[in-house]
Amino acid sequence: MNVSIGFDLGGTNMKAGIVHPEKGVLKQVSIPTQADDGLEATLDRMAKLIKEVSDDAEGDITGVGIGAPGMISLDRRSVHNPPNLKGWYVVPLAEEIRKHTGFNALVENDANLMALGSARYGSGKPYQHFIMITLGTGVGGGIIFNNKIFRGATGAAAELGHISIDYDGAVCNSTVPGAIEAYLGQRFMSQRAADEIRKHPESELYKTYAGNFEALDPRHLSEAANRGNTLAIDILADAGRKLGYAIVNYVHTLDIRKIVISGGVAQAGDHILKPCFQAAMERLMPPFRSDFEIIPELLGNEAALLGAGTLALENL
Ligand code: BGC
Ligand code: NA
Repeated sequence: MNVSIGFDLGGTNMKAGIVHPEKGVLKQVSIPTQADDGLEATLDRMAKLIKEVSDDAEGDITGVGIGAPGMISLDRRSVHNPPNLKGWYVVPLAEEIRKHTGFNALVENDANLMALGSARYGSGKPYQHFIMITLGTGVGGGIIFNNKIFRGATGAAAELGHISIDYDGAVCNSTVPGAIEAYLGQRFMSQRAADEIRKHPESELYKTYAGNFEALDPRHLSEAANRGNTLAIDILADAGRKLGYAIVNYVHTLDIRKIVISGGVAQAGDHILKPCFQAAMERLMPPFRSDFEIIPELLGNEAALLGAGTLALENL
């Protein structure tokens, strides 16, 4: 049976895996992206990783599916100005990978591929239509409509992290004030948490992180919340409610009622997802409330490789 190579080009790490249509990810390797070294060096590292994972892979390799942040061309061959890979503008990534490795390749938005991975292997499997939200360094979105990625007019649909909940609000890396990424993107969420904790010098969190707020990430907040820390619970609930506001916009636009959430911040589980569900439910127009559901993706990071591998298996 044919296999493919799934590739996840993250801002921090890059991963490659052999993806089998039935058995999922068979083997995977990962190294730091180090995008600051420039495009050519990054491409060389990608090629090395692809060679490493493809050595003695069982089955014929149909090609490479690559997930990258940012906007992807309609023909799935180039990536435009990915926000977390500074200095890239329009990169003909599929062609570069073919030149460097000999494998045919396709590229697609990372969150769109998380959605595809979820649709074929994960929490999205039972649903013909669902919305995927990925909570990581950036906030990404993918729309599965009739079991397929909804791509829009030019391939760039579902930039759900850049939907605003307040046009006078906080700013992230994009041009959109109040974009949900400015509240739930990992760095922004940590900053907001640090600001909140600074207001409570008597708190346990202040004592733990004073002078070292850089080290505070959403995982620490969820650990503290699990121990019953009320400040952490409040901070996560606030983030959850904000995500809920954005979800109201997605549901009203798309009439899709199943929302799958993945990524590091999603591991905070109910501390974010319950207030998120409630905030959205209260604000949805009543007809949209029936069948409305928020579902955590349980595949974790594997969804990215599975989605990327599926892209290659289904399209190359
Ligand atoms: C980018 C998206 C990407 C998401 C997750 C956002 O900042 O605009 O294209 O899917 O981050 O990486
Ligand atoms: Na997307």
